[in-house]
Amino acid sequence: MSTLQPKGDAELKIQGKTVRLPLVEGSEGELGLDIARLRSETGAITLDPGYVNTGSCSSSVTYIDGERGILRYRGYAIDELAEKSSFLETSYLLIYGKLPARRELEVFVDQITRHSMIHEDMKRFFNGYPATAHPMSILSSMVCSLSSYYPDCMHNSPENRELNIYRILSKISTIAAFSYKKSIGQPFVGPLNRLGYVDNFLNMMFAVPAESYEINPKASRALEMILVLHADHEQNCSTSTVRIVGSSLANLYACVSAGICALWGPLHGGANQAVIEMLADIEREGIDVAKFVARVKDKDSNTRLMGFGHRVYKNFDPRAKILKQACDDLLGQLGIRSRQLEIAKQLEDAALKDDYFIERKLYPNVDFYSGIILRALGIPLNMFTVMFAIGRLPGWIAQWREMLSSPGLKINRPRQIYTGPNLRTYVPIEQRV
Ligand code: ACO
Repeated sequence: MSTLQPKGDAELKIQGKTVRLPLVEGSEGELGLDIARLRSETGAITLDPGYVNTGSCSSSVTYIDGERGILRYRGYAIDELAEKSSFLETSYLLIYGKLPARRELEVFVDQITRHSMIHEDMKRFFNGYPATAHPMSILSSMVCSLSSYYPDCMHNSPENRELNIYRILSKISTIAAFSYKKSIGQPFVGPLNRLGYVDNFLNMMFAVPAESYEINPKASRALEMILVLHADHEQNCSTSTVRIVGSSLANLYACVSAGICALWGPLHGGANQAVIEMLADIEREGIDVAKFVARVKDKDSNTRLMGFGHRVYKNFDPRAKILKQACDDLLGQLGIRSRQLEIAKQLEDAALKDDYFIERKLYPNVDFYSGIILRALGIPLNMFTVMFAIGRLPGWIAQWREMLSSPGLKINRPRQIYTGPNLRTYVPIEQRV
């Protein structure tokens, strides 16, 4: 793993005082200004709401060049991994930093396969939720509850850490599938260790005791690829949440549960559900695509083109390109004609030609086409963000693990600029107006 390289220093003049702050450089030439001494030397802090321009850590997991539309996990291009790698191999790569040798992968897969069941008592939790419960709420609380069943997660030895990594990677898909079964009133279908990770998930989701269920290899491959594409995305909202919670040395299940909650929002992972809802509205109400684009541009309409725009990508999100092609391929193979896919393509064409989107560098992101594939696979709408969470889990784990093994780990604690009242004297209630 390469570390930050010193790159000279920068001179900063604040209220007449000049300070020199070190510059550091990453392995792809990104420059950072190390402001750790800024406050002690000048009294000033940096102010960056939304962390638009703040690096919270150095990391060797994932590289994004948003201007050029590049995404790499541990140095490997996302399109190559999407085509050639499996979800568990990619998970290994993210977590341990290298592509596994055959034997290493076998051991890893075996460990994950062995931990797929959940404690029988936990199955009863599902009965406590109303049938209408959103699977993300079930997933986040169930994942946090795992810490009650595996209290060794509180003792952060390297062995415990690895064991709990296997457990959570495996059990998340069982919990996700059970939450779906609960929501439709079908019996849980337990994990089958003879199946691969994705096939096992599809079986737990769609098999029923009354008849046999055939896994379609094309569907399985498409889902595998979706999981690979979602597996990490450096310091996004949910990953930063996992790191922040982890920096207090909270256990892995608590950290991931917090990450799942952060992912749920419609500006983050919840966008995949919001995209399909938007396409469904356009389809149902027969809205003209040009009119919809005009509505999105009208700030008073409070409408966004969901699945478009990204904090980091100011060019095509490379995942969206892969997913658009995969959408065409899968729907063709399954013989599905999707009006929503047609609308999505029309929206994309219209937006990419429109000055509003061109000026703001708004392009389709990962969520724009993923929902159409998930829908074709029979995954219900309210499970879309759960699929994102399953996919993102290895990234959260890799970033958490990296943080814990970084020298000089500090609890994450941003500062603020206070704008409230100055000192006031307490007024007894009878004297207040
Ligand atoms: N539709 C219409 N206008 C948009 C959109 C959009 N999808 N996205 C951004 N804009 C506009 C904003 O209104 C703003 O315009 P202004 O400069 O005239 O005020 C400008 O583009 C910049 O937008 P910000 O919201 O400041 O950009 P930010 O980097 O903070 O937000 C975000 C990024 C949240 C992804 C935003 O583009 C968005 O809301 N997109 C739709 C939701 C979505 O698809 N989220 C998934 C993101 S990917 C992921 O998390 C997995």
